[in-house]
Amino acid sequence: RLGKMKEAGFNTFQLHNGDIFMDMLTDSGVNAMSDQMLAGMMTPDDAYAGSESFFRMRDKLEEIFGMKYCLPAHQGRACENILATRFVKPGNCVIMNYHFTTAKAHITRLGGHVEELVKDEGLVSQSDLPFKGDIDLDKLEACIEKEGADNVSFMRLEAGTNLIGGQPVSVQSFKDACAVARKHGILSVLDASLLQDNLYFIKIRDEERKDMSVREITREIADQFDMIYFSARKFGFARGGAILVRDEELFHSMEDLVPMFEGFLTYGGMSVREIEAMTVGFDESMDMDIISHGPQFIKYCVDKLVDYGVPMITPAGGLGAHVDATSFVSHIPQQEYPAGALVCAFYLCGGIRGMERGTLSEERNADGSERFASMELVRLALPRRVFTLSQVEYVIDRVKWVYDHRDMIGGLRFVHEPATLRFFTGRLEATSDWPEKLVAAYKADFGEDQ
Ligand code: F0G
Repeated sequence: RLGKMKEAGFNTFQLHNGDIFMDMLTDSGVNAMSDQMLAGMMTPDDAYAGSESFFRMRDKLEEIFGMKYCLPAHQGRACENILATRFVKPGNCVIMNYHFTTAKAHITRLGGHVEELVKDEGLVSQSDLPFKGDIDLDKLEACIEKEGADNVSFMRLEAGTNLIGGQPVSVQSFKDACAVARKHGILSVLDASLLQDNLYFIKIRDEERKDMSVREITREIADQFDMIYFSARKFGFARGGAILVRDEELFHSMEDLVPMFEGFLTYGGMSVREIEAMTVGFDESMDMDIISHGPQFIKYCVDKLVDYGVPMITPAGGLGAHVDATSFVSHIPQQEYPAGALVCAFYLCGGIRGMERGTLSEERNADGSERFASMELVRLALPRRVFTLSQVEYVIDRVKWVYDHRDMIGGLRFVHEPATLRFFTGRLEATSDWPEKLVAAYKADFGEDQ
């Protein structure tokens, strides 16, 4: 694994899947499909234009979200490209509770900038706040005042806020923020890629809504927004995406971008088989039993690691268990990418592939200086319906071993640094021979074949 890590430039995206024991890189496009989803794939209507599979999907989405118009796209970032291309002009601002890497990259590519207005408490690693993804309303008003409402392309609120540890947003926060946007004539957009996890947390943490069905809660949220987009690699447990639009004119103003970037308006770059599976997946995303599995496994993993003293993001969120690298390897300075180094240590000691979600996943400031992330996280994703609890136990065991040997982990530095989304394709090296020493200690404990 040390050889493979070096070949991969200390970047877990560059590893071959065959060299990995537990693939916890992401929950994106690797969720297991149900028998019903697979069955759906057997009965698509294959046509370039006018496929009935598309209309079935559109109708299901309207039934769930109450929005009539649907622009299909091949995945979430394709939706982000369309939204940014349509609405972002140089100098514009896009308001967010927190950014997502690809959403931000499309906005900055077009000369816009992102303002992240999550409450300060959302960025505190260990907490018992139930909805850490909530936007700060005072910051929101101040930002609109500073930027001027006309300069705000749109407000994008992300359910299940990915980069701060899969943390949910409360219904009240969605409502309050959208009311402010409406008052100022600013379009509101929901990124629903991680909505299923967010819905689970609302159901178990929001006293006021514990007797509402998942569908009723979904509709209450959706009713606040002008548009909703999602990655169906997460929401719907398949592979694809779509933008839903309430207003006909708004829909027509984006329509031409779909055939230009994605494919015709009734497939948007997706296979019709996948569209059928996804349509079943949307229904399953409204099923409390199905959407409970991920967050419950994550909580199990987080609680056990916390018991061992490992610094984790708490409360446990959705999509994966998030390790707080800032505390875990507090001896590694932020310019040597502590989360990037820790994610490599998990691979070396256990064959576990996680994802860095810290400074490496940021882009440099315009003057070339590092933009330090507000949180240095290693995400151990739990794709839905994939792992057993004994596999989770294995991960807990190896993470604990790495924690007991954390002083041996050192930093990383770039040897090849791309300007955009550098975490995907960048190559790094260790700042010393710490990987060799760590592997030697691991072998001394576990033998040659672990
Ligand atoms: N929005 C959110 C909240 C996401 O988590 C993602 C992807 C996207 C948009 C983009 O969607 O991948 O289909 O183009 N998240 C993946 C992850 C990549 O691993 O967290 P996409």
